[in-house]
Amino acid sequence: MIKYLGSKRTLVPRLVALADAVREQSGAHTVADVFTGTTRVAQALKRRGFAVTANDLASYSEVLATCYIAMDGNDASAVRAIADKLQYLDALPGRDGYVTRTFCEEARYFQPFNGRRIDAIRDALDGVAEGATERAVLLTALLLAADRVDSTTGLQMAYLKGWAPRSHQTMQLRMPELIAGTGTVFREDANVLAAQLAPVDIAYLDPPYNQHSYFSNYHVWETIVRHDAPESYGVARKRVDCRTTKSAYNVRARAWTAFSELVRSLPARYCLVSFSNEGYFHYDDIVSLLASSHGEVAAMPVAFRRYVGAKIGIHNRRGEKVGTVSHLTNREFLFVAGPEAGAIVERAERGLRAEEPNAP
Ligand SMILES: C[S@@+](CC[C@H](N)C(=O)[O-])C[C@H]1O[C@@H](n2cnc3c(N)ncnc32)[C@H](O)[C@@H]1O
Repeated sequence: MIKYLGSKRTLVPRLVALADAVREQSGAHTVADVFTGTTRVAQALKRRGFAVTANDLASYSEVLATCYIAMDGNDASAVRAIADKLQYLDALPGRDGYVTRTFCEEARYFQPFNGRRIDAIRDALDGVAEGATERAVLLTALLLAADRVDSTTGLQMAYLKGWAPRSHQTMQLRMPELIAGTGTVFREDANVLAAQLAPVDIAYLDPPYNQHSYFSNYHVWETIVRHDAPESYGVARKRVDCRTTKSAYNVRARAWTAFSELVRSLPARYCLVSFSNEGYFHYDDIVSLLASSHGEVAAMPVAFRRYVGAKIGIHNRRGEKVGTVSHLTNREFLFVAGPEAGAIVERAERGLRAEEPNAP
């Protein structure tokens, strides 16, 4: 999985437990992950047997979704053909190109010897790929391989001053972990998608929650996928269209209107919403919105961050430990909206407790 801000690695078990609980309560089967990003959540739901639709604005996300959600990992002959092509691409000698020049010399995201390999593989990839799905699996393998040898902290707004230890390794293409079955993929503005989407049982909403644009933060992936050699600017060598490509969800004055319209227009019986109290939206506003669109609303706390005092213990002025801390701060929640939402959260929490008895 590529390094990605806001990727729902830690939330996935909770989201899956909630989706399972909705299924047990209401027979739900179809899910749309409307801001799918890395597709981590969509993948987990597909593995769990849901019929999944994955959507995001980013080209790299469409590629990941086509690989993990649309591609049928059980299609043995297709997988064999891809394996052969990966072997061929991985053996290509490196050659100087846009990635080497822009991302390894003008900037330092990858060591030039790996940059040359990215250039050679990307230049050859469209020529060897048969069809959009095969191309997406090959591109996913390239993104994952490049991510394993990059020299960033996980954002492409900057790169490390000194080379990251992993960047010295030779990049290697590997087959992504494909999933059995197929699903549906879109690359649409979420609000446009809402008007076109066939009705689903569950919609999962995880929009950007502040001004930081994913398009800018992951511009290197966007450029490798598009293969369009754009003009670039600044120390980070961002694509020039980072200046003009803005999501409504990254603009405080527009985000709430966009989100409320989305919630009201999505054809979904249930809505699952990721919420952080560090973003633009307010807890109470989300509850009112979801209550007006879907009826019952319940919240599951998902990230417990202890107060700083709890991390270091409570100490008196002389530095002596004087007590233990009992309260926790909740910063992140998963909202469930739809019939019997409260019972669904209880059912999901029971399931989680059975699976991880030592959870907080
Ligand atoms: C918080 S991230 C989602 C992370 C995802 N749940 C994961 O686990 O990887 C938000 C995503 O919304 C996408 N996005 C931003 N504006 C969008 C819009 N208007 N429509 C659809 N996707 C959008 C971004 O590209 C980004 O991938």
